[in-house]
Amino acid sequence: MAGYTDKPFRKLCREFGCGLTFSELISVNAIYYKNKKTLKLIERDIIDRPYCIQLFGADEKIFLYAAEFVEPFCDCIDINAGCPAPKVIRAKAGSYLLKEPKQLIKIAQTLKKHIKKPISIKMRMGYEKTNPIELYKELEQIGIDFITIHGRLKSQYFKGGVDYNHIGQINSILSIPVVANGGIDSFKKAQEVKRITGCDYLMIGQAAIGRPFIFEDLNKGIDSKRDLGFVKTVMKKHLQYMIDFWGDTAIRQFRKFFHAYLKGYPNIKRFNNMINNCSTNQEALAIIDLIES
Ligand SMILES: Cc1cc2nc3c(=O)[nH]c(=O)nc-3n(C[C@H](O)[C@H](O)[C@H](O)COP(=O)(O)O)c2cc1C
Repeated sequence: MAGYTDKPFRKLCREFGCGLTFSELISVNAIYYKNKKTLKLIERDIIDRPYCIQLFGADEKIFLYAAEFVEPFCDCIDINAGCPAPKVIRAKAGSYLLKEPKQLIKIAQTLKKHIKKPISIKMRMGYEKTNPIELYKELEQIGIDFITIHGRLKSQYFKGGVDYNHIGQINSILSIPVVANGGIDSFKKAQEVKRITGCDYLMIGQAAIGRPFIFEDLNKGIDSKRDLGFVKTVMKKHLQYMIDFWGDTAIRQFRKFFHAYLKGYPNIKRFNNMINNCSTNQEALAIIDLIES
């Protein structure tokens, strides 16, 4: 997830039992131009494997250039055909590829021909209408190794119900693994999604923000209630990982996680205000110590 799944966050999720992590979406053009900030986004921790680097772009030649560049640094390359952001759509990338499936197929074919590591696709269930079944079949025929389906249309952005029936239908006709995604935020929900879709694999997005321990819950088959003391320990560890990676600027990127960790706890407004007004990592660590509900 853009702005979230950097090296420190993926490491933390991994420690809580996440089985496969993905980088933030990475622009193939930025790789082509060797943008330093982008190159930092693909870094991974030694324990963070298997790890997928997700690329977005429109041109198959630049896509291949970027895929060849990142291949040594990951275990799998994922093609983004799901992002609905206007900037990405204008570049004819992300979920735009579902509007132009020929281009998605061209990219998939090019990568499968030249890249040795597995190639996966993360896609929405359609642009404005549901993808035809033939598209999924063709991607399987090309040799795509697995497909993740976010059960919403591009036109829905992140709102509205997730169509698990569509994911289930595709899972039943393909032989390759289909990963179900969208709205999975608890063990109970995960069970329901597995039952409806028949998928063996689930992708967790937003529910892990402020709750990386959801992976432990899913593996243990429980919906745990974590006390504030536990959450504070996780927050400190997360911030420390971010400091190790981002240095002085870690606090700027940590704030959004801070708010997410404390969401739902009573009487925490003052701590949210404190973190918004603090400017150093050391102050932020001290604020976490002060948190009480
Ligand atoms: C802030 C944010 C950033 C996201 N970034 C990406 C991304 O970089 N690549 C991607 O495939 N999906 C991205 N997504 C979509 C999620 O991966 C996921 O498909 C969607 O949020 C639905 O699943 P969830 O309910 O588990 O979050 C992003 C979503 C959000 C909210």
